[in-house]
Amino acid sequence: MRALTVTPGVADSLELRDIAAPPPEEGDVLVDTLSVGLCGTDSEIVAGDFGVAPPGQDHLVLGHENLGRVAEAPAGSDLAPGDIVVGIVRRPDPVPCGACAAGEWDMCLNGRYAEHGIKELDGFARQQWRGQADALVKLDPALQRVGVLLEPTTVVCKAWEQIERIGQRAYFAPETVAVTGAGPVGLLAALLGIQRGLEVHVYDLITEGPKPGLVRDLGAVYHTDSLQDSQVRPDVIIECTGVAPVILEAITGGGQNSITCLTGISGVGGKTPTDIGDLNRTTVLQNEVIFGTVNANKRHYTSAAAALAAADESWLERMITRRVRIDDFRDAFEQHDDDVKVVLDFQDPT
Ligand code: BGC
Repeated sequence: MRALTVTPGVADSLELRDIAAPPPEEGDVLVDTLSVGLCGTDSEIVAGDFGVAPPGQDHLVLGHENLGRVAEAPAGSDLAPGDIVVGIVRRPDPVPCGACAAGEWDMCLNGRYAEHGIKELDGFARQQWRGQADALVKLDPALQRVGVLLEPTTVVCKAWEQIERIGQRAYFAPETVAVTGAGPVGLLAALLGIQRGLEVHVYDLITEGPKPGLVRDLGAVYHTDSLQDSQVRPDVIIECTGVAPVILEAITGGGQNSITCLTGISGVGGKTPTDIGDLNRTTVLQNEVIFGTVNANKRHYTSAAAALAAADESWLERMITRRVRIDDFRDAFEQHDDDVKVVLDFQDPT
């Protein structure tokens, strides 16, 4: 069967190759891949800057944002052929550490977790894959076209859950949220803010293309000025760019008792001058919290499935700005001006 692979550490080693059918040890549920979403992590892996092949293998099957249809499921499981499912990206470390033992592999303590399509486990960009039933999440069949957005939604569901848990440290009644970046993660973070009844402000440099309309149609405010210039003093900030000057705005832009959540994975090595004394002084005197979050556990997959099911499907569909047939995979990695989410399709459109 066909699979999109890279040799981790080798730039531009992306190729479509024939690989063996998924081995039974991968799990007793067989899944036909419908689509795979692409994100910055995939681009880093393709550039040779990230990614680890499974032990004993020089290549890694790419793809962690995924959507599939069950082809075979064991009798007695709550899955049946035809069900629409998503495979969970991260699997617990083998020790397991306390967090992984508690099912919170997203908080793995020893770094020995594995991630499909990223670290030591083949990804979902292959025609079929297998998984254990407890490593899959069943989706509402109505999400067949847009369920590939589940994985990035899990990341922001975790972010929101953590924000709300941190908020419980004291009186917490947020009204205003700022989201920096109107890429897929930013848009989904904004969607969840709207679903919570908050006033949502989204900041991005882009003035044209689908982003401003997507934000406005959510009922949020789109800004092309900076958070600081806009004079908005949010209770919650979700940083979704990973770009140093924007991060600086996010960690200095919150109001009294604000919570700032960092979700972007930045490049390293740059220097951004700042007055740490001033940052510290404000953070202390305003009771602010600045924290980072990555990945998601099953709880977040379940809440993400509910969030997508409650969203306007046509709005989610507009976030997917390009669907590229797997044969044309190279086109998918060419950046287009109007790209929001690019998806590789493994099946003919239905
Ligand atoms: C994925 C996460 C993953 C992280 C680090 C992100 O792109 O969405 O699931 O944990 O990369 O590998």
